[in-house]
Amino acid sequence: MSKVQSIKTTHSEVFIGEHVFKVLTEYLTPYKDCKKFLLVDENTLQNCTTQLISQVKALENVEIIEIESGEENKTLDICYQIWKTLSDYKADRNSVLINLGGGVITDMGGFVASTYKRGIDFINIPTTLLSQIDASVGGKVGIDFDDLKNMIGVFNEPKGVFIYPPFLKTLDKRQMLSGYAEALKHALITDKKYWKNLKGGLLSNSEDWENLITTSVNIKNSIVLKDPKEKKERKLLNFGHTIGHAIESYSLKNDSLPLLHGEAIAIGMVCETYLSHLVLELSAANLKEISSSILSFYSRYRLDDNQFHQLIELMKHDKKNETSSINFTLLKEIGLAEVNHEVDVELIIESLNYYNSLIKK
Ligand SMILES: NC(=O)c1ccc[n+]([C@@H]2O[C@H](COP(=O)([O-])OP(=O)(O)OC[C@H]3O[C@@H](n4cnc5c(N)ncnc54)[C@H](O)[C@@H]3O)[C@@H](O)[C@H]2O)c1
Ligand SMILES: [Zn+2]
Repeated sequence: MSKVQSIKTTHSEVFIGEHVFKVLTEYLTPYKDCKKFLLVDENTLQNCTTQLISQVKALENVEIIEIESGEENKTLDICYQIWKTLSDYKADRNSVLINLGGGVITDMGGFVASTYKRGIDFINIPTTLLSQIDASVGGKVGIDFDDLKNMIGVFNEPKGVFIYPPFLKTLDKRQMLSGYAEALKHALITDKKYWKNLKGGLLSNSEDWENLITTSVNIKNSIVLKDPKEKKERKLLNFGHTIGHAIESYSLKNDSLPLLHGEAIAIGMVCETYLSHLVLELSAANLKEISSSILSFYSRYRLDDNQFHQLIELMKHDKKNETSSINFTLLKEIGLAEVNHEVDVELIIESLNYYNSLIKK
């Protein structure tokens, strides 16, 4: 696959392929005389910035804003620093912010751009598998707040998303697998054939990456197009995330080496597959197939019984719940999901115990 793939989103477009920077160069023409800013962290500064700037002449004099990597930095304090830099460098309404990084950079950079002077243009160049197949697409931007994930944010799309698969060459295996969890989710909620391709293992060459990225972006985008503001269909994408986000928030607060987003979502998907078996009669064979495939990819993480109460409280706080009851997206079968299933706390606890019982084996 050498041609640039292009996928139209609600108000924008996603480009995928080794030659995306030619398209980016054209995209930047209207900003010729405008101030351009490039948001990076230390890893994307080291691994991606030179490759980008050497291929996109228009970025030769871009102002680089570097922040420290990590989910613990997706905060208001760091937004303040970025707003301050934009302001010090006299960014105006015509300026453009280019986010070069993983989901932390695209979520936070998108939020900063959407609010600076009531909104300046931004462009996403995602550099992790997770951000290429998920975070940079769909228009959700925001930050964590008070130990809760993505509490502050808005819906706002970038002017364009440019996905250059070779950036993944410097990403470590743990980060690749974190992104892979979102691909597994895309397959489980919509596409049985995709699941069959993915459950065997992480695809090893970059040709495969491009196919995987294109399939996942198409799945995510087609769901978002039907329901950009998450009134109904978009909740399909929350599969694994109600329990997964609670585990991620808990781990961020309590563990010295916290779980990555996708690692927490993988646990959430195992638990929510179990709930699907209880509530939607997903078959026992499917439950076993999904749980064992997911567990084969990720390290085991023990959930302590005395954490359960805190996890439930975190789920109740989750912004996805319109009432105090806990709302789930569940699987009816592999490739078919349903939104808006209210589940009792006892069953949720049973699902956490189910995960624990599997990792003992
Ligand atoms: N907005 C959405 O719709 C959406 C969807 C899914 C996830 N998210 C968010 O995305 C975030 C997770 O994103 P992530 O997994 O990309 O995390 P991340 O941004 O923290 O990146 C992971 C690590 O990889 C490094 N890195 C990035 N690109 C690299 C490269 N090419 N080579 C080497 N190292 C590189 C980063 O510096 C970082 O240390 C979470 O905050 C999650 O909430 C948002
Ligand atoms: Zn996610």
